Amino acid sequence: MEINLIEELPFDHWNPAVDAAVQSSVTTALERGRVLYLPRLGFQVRPEEQRFLAADWSDGKSKNIYLRGAERRLRGAHGNPDDLRGLREMLERFGQQARQLVEALFPHYRAHLEFGNTSFRPCEIEGRSSSYRKDDTRLHADAFPSNPTGGARLLRVFCNVNPFGKPRVWRVGEPFPDMAAKFLPKVRRQWPGEAALLNALGITKRRRSEYDHLMNELHDRVKADLDYQRDVPQQRVEFPPGATWIVFSDQVLHAVLSGALMLEQTWMLPVDGLLDRDTAPLKVLERLTGRALV
Ligand code: SIN
Ligand code: FE
Repeated sequence: MEINLIEELPFDHWNPAVDAAVQSSVTTALERGRVLYLPRLGFQVRPEEQRFLAADWSDGKSKNIYLRGAERRLRGAHGNPDDLRGLREMLERFGQQARQLVEALFPHYRAHLEFGNTSFRPCEIEGRSSSYRKDDTRLHADAFPSNPTGGARLLRVFCNVNPFGKPRVWRVGEPFPDMAAKFLPKVRRQWPGEAALLNALGITKRRRSEYDHLMNELHDRVKADLDYQRDVPQQRVEFPPGATWIVFSDQVLHAVLSGALMLEQTWMLPVDGLLDRDTAPLKVLERLTGRALV
């Protein structure tokens, strides 16, 4: 079945002037699980930074090069101190521009956003092998086993910086509530004491709420179900170089099929910061299970 989740926006500047009516309509579209697509907004890679647009800056251990949350130390890269300083500068500039964009489009979120990782994803996706849980070529809503959010949203800005004309190819799938209604009956409940144990062992960075447990289960079960992957209503989207797109990645079912060299910025947003809290996965799962999950 065909779906269309793309909401195209004309902005070509990282700090656009956006009037209040547009701010409210783009915020609503985002919260309803649409992909905000800005085909005319590219990230300016400086001449001296062009050399960073290659896979060989990765340290080979982690798939991405990134600055972690508030800490901002460069991780996942190798090179001499000058190179690493230059890479860090490029990621930092992207993060700041992405922040301007998000604050211009969604002023309602401003006071609530928690700045997260800035990542650079240099490696080609196609042909990369991994376990099914880590296989992002399968549709999924983001949930990170070691990083419980307690219900907070994951807001992400992506920008394709491929210098060879190669698009980033995604699939996006049916609305979160439809997926959740199908898979919730199949998930296992948390064992008594499980969250405390994972936390004590340092497997989770904070205590995993029942919400986080369910999000992890949904993530894994959706990826494991190949019939669902094939048959679910979905849309293939190509994001060309020089384009930016924005999603709530804990809500929008997404998969990346191919592409290399992309920048990405993440924020956490508490449910109370949303215009419409009922659209949050937390509220959807609480309605479906009939109980409080955090
Ligand atoms: C993902 O969040 O699943 C991967 C998206 C991408 O790298 O394009
Ligand atoms: Fe993902």
